[in-house]
Amino acid sequence: MKLIIATIKPFKLEEVREALTEAGVRGLMVTEIKGFGAQSGHTEIYRGAEYVVNFVPKVKLELVVADNVADQLVEVISKTAQTGKIGDGKIFVLDVEQAVRVRTGETGEDAI
Ligand SMILES: Nc1ncnc2c1ncn2[C@@H]1O[C@H](COP(=O)(O)OP(=O)(O)OP(=O)(O)O)[C@@H](O)[C@H]1O
Ligand SMILES: [Mg+2]
Repeated sequence: MKLIIATIKPFKLEEVREALTEAGVRGLMVTEIKGFGAQSGHTEIYRGAEYVVNFVPKVKLELVVADNVADQLVEVISKTAQTGKIGDGKIFVLDVEQAVRVRTGETGEDAI
């Protein structure tokens, strides 16, 4: 299994959620975060306002998925979240050792 961590622009959340649901994703964590990327300290536009501070609001998505769909889902997120402007986000992929569905005790890919 893989853990996909993606930061996206907040206004893209609904579109990305829909695209992931259509692609078969059944579980997702969403957190509102602040962060910075390559333009640290420089201007980025968010909701019409210019942020000149280091931290800009983003949404972080975390999905644990089967190995054989990870690349495809990264592409779905990447294509859907892209505006072509700075601050579109980053996607990281990590290995996951184990998952457990608490209700049933199922483990591994059966649990996700
Ligand atoms: N190396 C990193 N490690 C952890 N989080 C990161 C990293 N780079 C970016 N992020 C997170 O991703 C968010 C968006 O980054 P951003 O899209 O601005 O990256 P970038 O490299 O500056 O790309 P761009 O030039 O398109 O703006 C940041 O606010 C931060 O939360
Ligand atoms: Mg940036």
